[in-house]
Amino acid sequence: MAKSQAHYVCQSCGASYPKWNGRCENCGEWNSLQEEARTSTPGGMKVKGNANSSGQQIAFVGLEGQTSKTDRRVTRIAEFDRVTGGGLVPGSAVLVGGDPGIGKSTLLLQAVAALARNGAACAYISGEEAVDQVRLRAARLGLAAADVLLASATSVRDLVATLDRADAPPVVVIDSIQTMYVDNLESAPGTVAQVRASAHELIRVAKQRGFCLLLVGHVTKEGALAGPKVLEHMVDAVLTFEGERGHQFRILRAVKNRFGATDEIGVFEMTDGGLTEVANPSALFLADHNGEVSGASVFAGVEGTRPVLVEIQALVSPSPLGTPRRAVIGWDSGRLAMVLAVLEARCGVSLAGKDVYLNVAGGLRISEPAADLAVAAALISAACDRPVPDHSVLFGEIGLSGEIRAVSQGDQRLKEASKLGFKHAFVPVNRSKKARLNGKLTLQEVAHLQDLVASIAAGGARDRLQPEPSQ
Ligand code: TYD
Ligand code: MG
Repeated sequence: MAKSQAHYVCQSCGASYPKWNGRCENCGEWNSLQEEARTSTPGGMKVKGNANSSGQQIAFVGLEGQTSKTDRRVTRIAEFDRVTGGGLVPGSAVLVGGDPGIGKSTLLLQAVAALARNGAACAYISGEEAVDQVRLRAARLGLAAADVLLASATSVRDLVATLDRADAPPVVVIDSIQTMYVDNLESAPGTVAQVRASAHELIRVAKQRGFCLLLVGHVTKEGALAGPKVLEHMVDAVLTFEGERGHQFRILRAVKNRFGATDEIGVFEMTDGGLTEVANPSALFLADHNGEVSGASVFAGVEGTRPVLVEIQALVSPSPLGTPRRAVIGWDSGRLAMVLAVLEARCGVSLAGKDVYLNVAGGLRISEPAADLAVAAALISAACDRPVPDHSVLFGEIGLSGEIRAVSQGDQRLKEASKLGFKHAFVPVNRSKKARLNGKLTLQEVAHLQDLVASIAAGGARDRLQPEPSQ
């Protein structure tokens, strides 16, 4: 019999070591190694020398064949359904991560209640809250009458006994996976071994019985999904629920989805009565936009299939520090450094010795390189204290030589800008010369960042905006 041997597992990344270390060599986290008993592989499988002596022959099949059509479970909460790729797929596992208190439990309770309204009695199993607490929340959300199967439990053995049956509910929410435990492991709930084993068991039952499993996962202080990265590999979709404290907007984002696009977002607003959908996020993100101040620009972005306009704000001030501050909220600090370097090296706009603050208003996080031009505009505008021409939007990627590169979905971006009453757009040079929006917006094609600097610094950029010849 194999000896049970202790090993040390990093609770942050899941790396395993034979000896304790103060710091995980894999992810660099301090004090994250914990002793765990080594267990045999799931199901106690042991691979012996002769592979033929155990196991069964696998029957291969062709790529073409009879596959039952998957009937997705739709909540009819449009923002939620879009992010899941058009509804929840039976037999799939979805991990929903997010900061504590951001609204994961609220969102999922509303989702199961919506599914119940559409005729499917779904289960909500909480390991964090007692039944009464969940009921209180449901009452507050006006969902007390919804046909939801509610339970408070943490033992995976009990859950498997309850769910491993032919008439299992079609959708099961587990809130949260960090509170679940399997009793044949010694480590405490929430440790890598427990999270992995619990998720493995629950996902197995979900696949076998064809129900959709929604797992709530906590995030670490760095924002990664807590527990091992392996959890992300085990599930079919990973959704993150994010937002800024103090803002009422919440964004549900698909970061992995085996059954849909990964760049979709759903926008919600947290209100007294729970989460409400925001069908037109641009209007919301621009609610406080004042075109006449310096250091603000509007980026015409695209999130998934939807255009979203957001305000980008920059502040430049003399720095008392030897190494000036660069603080960014909602964008990549590496990209900010690149835009600053291009401004300095290619356009002669030096922000050395200045503190630079950049903020994406409304709590949205942008990852598109297309935001470069809008960021540069906000920075230039802040640096020379002149507003970006009123009623204008920008998009375009900045190359290291200062050239502005074309980005995808230009038409869609312009259409949304025009819908929201914008008059001008700074855009990359359109090489394909495809028909562009008819006449509502005046376009200024920017070939080099230098052109944008000249436009904003001159202040009279609007005079130079020539309407495109009508086609
Ligand atoms: P919750 O869903 O418990 O967050 P999580 O499960 O991600 O930890 O959300 C809790 C927060 O949401 C809490 O700060 C209060 C707020 N909230 C509202 O503003 N309105 C509501 O109707 C509800 C139910 C919660
Ligand atoms: Mg919760």
